[in-house]
Amino acid sequence: MEAAAKVGRLTRSSLQAASCPAVNGGVVVFFAAVVAGALVSASWMSTGARVTSIPMIATRNMAQHAAASPEPEPTLPRLGNLAPPPRQPPPPAPAPAPDAAAAASPSSSCPAYFRWIHEDLRPWRDAGITREAVDGAARRYGAKFRVTVVAGRLHVARYGRCFQTRDVFTQWGVLQLLRRYQGRVPDLDLMFDCQDLPVVNAGNRRGRTSSSPPPLFGYCGSEPTLDIAFPDWSFWGWPELNIKPWETLRGEIADGNAAVNWTGRAPYAYWKGNPTVGADRRNLLRCNASGKRDWNARIYEQDWRKEVRDGFRESDLAKQCTHRYKIYIEGRGWSVSEKYILACDSVALIVRPRYHDFFSRGLMPLQHYWPIPGGGRGMCRSIKFAVDWGNAHADKAQEIAGNATRFIQEDLTMDRVYDYMFHLLTEYAKLLKYKPTVPDRAVEVTVESMTRGRRGLERQFMVDTMVEAGSGTGEPCELPPPFSSEELETLRRRQADAVRQVETWEKR
Ligand SMILES: *[C@@H]1O[C@H](CO)[C@@H](O)[C@H](O)[C@H]1NC(C)=O
Ligand SMILES: *[C@@H]1O[C@H](CO)[C@@H](O)[C@H](O)[C@H]1NC(C)=O
Ligand SMILES: *[C@@H]1O[C@H](CO)[C@@H](O)[C@H](O)[C@H]1NC(C)=O
Repeated sequence: MEAAAKVGRLTRSSLQAASCPAVNGGVVVFFAAVVAGALVSASWMSTGARVTSIPMIATRNMAQHAAASPEPEPTLPRLGNLAPPPRQPPPPAPAPAPDAAAAASPSSSCPAYFRWIHEDLRPWRDAGITREAVDGAARRYGAKFRVTVVAGRLHVARYGRCFQTRDVFTQWGVLQLLRRYQGRVPDLDLMFDCQDLPVVNAGNRRGRTSSSPPPLFGYCGSEPTLDIAFPDWSFWGWPELNIKPWETLRGEIADGNAAVNWTGRAPYAYWKGNPTVGADRRNLLRCNASGKRDWNARIYEQDWRKEVRDGFRESDLAKQCTHRYKIYIEGRGWSVSEKYILACDSVALIVRPRYHDFFSRGLMPLQHYWPIPGGGRGMCRSIKFAVDWGNAHADKAQEIAGNATRFIQEDLTMDRVYDYMFHLLTEYAKLLKYKPTVPDRAVEVTVESMTRGRRGLERQFMVDTMVEAGSGTGEPCELPPPFSSEELETLRRRQADAVRQVETWEKR
């Protein structure tokens, strides 16, 4: 943690990131796997907080467990693909030449949540982004690495540690984007943070008109912060937890859904996770069915030792859509589990979220999920109400469940994830007031450099997610325009109204 110590204000969130890998309900063995995964991987992880950040529980036998299971060596297909992209002239102005694009292939409009790209970049829309502002994201907010793209080649300068292989798989994702849209990603210079919480406080900045805020990319944002939401590492896989790359897992969850229909599932709200990270999660434990009272919630705590002993048999996310309702509740920050829960074809009961990832602002309460208005004392009552309501209005409940699943299965494919990255980075690049150059401390990152010496699941997931160079022959979807202030206002009002509606129903 010496990197964090250098920047005083970072220490708190570094520790949080280390102890809270942003995962919760429905994901049975995450924390067991964190422990074992860290040990399995300790010898071959090139970065990450490693074992130091893992609570010291059951480490001895897990080390043995890990040592006893040698990992197969997946081979990289088609060696030709490993060559870095040829040196190429800087791509032309990032404007996507809509006429030519439309003629080549009638590309469809991106999902509505892409409109938030404009909102996330709004703080820099008028004055642009200066090199000083970018540098400030490292100096003042402790960015962990800097991504520079010059003429289609990726360079990374490292400033600090990320938990496990978050940074590795984030950089891998950017590298695959460059391969997919070869020659079309503009020159870039950006700072990245890899923790659970957004850090650039918008409030602190009011009245500071002389300098623009530092742009900082991360995995989630919130209303009071300016961090720019970027797809998290798990889309390319989470080797420490044996969570497969999203494209694979998305298909497996869809297959699992087909096996048990909504009516056939247990008519309760299910959650399993680590309740120690946040007051709301501790409150959630009280909603578990007891002898006295049944709140229609089935709440389970992680048992790390047991899961490790059992060899992670329960960790298959594709087999966890067994209840009609699944609770999503944030831990310290946003949780990676959200997409797995929403994909379940169950009604997601979302407890008043404070953070968003890049896609979750496209979800509307009562259309894609059931809002649980508060995380406090009333939460159990709200959960019970939601379950009773859904069981009494099965058609409506299944429609909500289906809408969320369709959103995830159609609007959150890897094609769309790459398109989101493409548009976000292209729009960001348009705001740069300077020509990006490779910083002194940066090293070039290629498929070869990233896969060299990697074994086991890390290597497997890279092989599984490697994009064929130049495979993005089709056009990216078309970026929809920014929200007007009226549209934003309407959207916020609709969301607030839906939550109020539920509160009114509950009071009857
Ligand atoms: C759903 O599953 C239940 C029990 O497995 C079965 O009785 C019912 O017919 C199924 N409903 C539909 C619409 O397939
Ligand atoms: C909730 O109740 C069930 C059934 O009684 C029990 O198996 C489970 O361990 C309980 N969960 C917690 C977190 O206590
Ligand atoms: C489900 O989605 C469709 C299409 O977006 C929408 O018309 C419908 O109202 C949604 N259902 C609910 C319950 O909101």
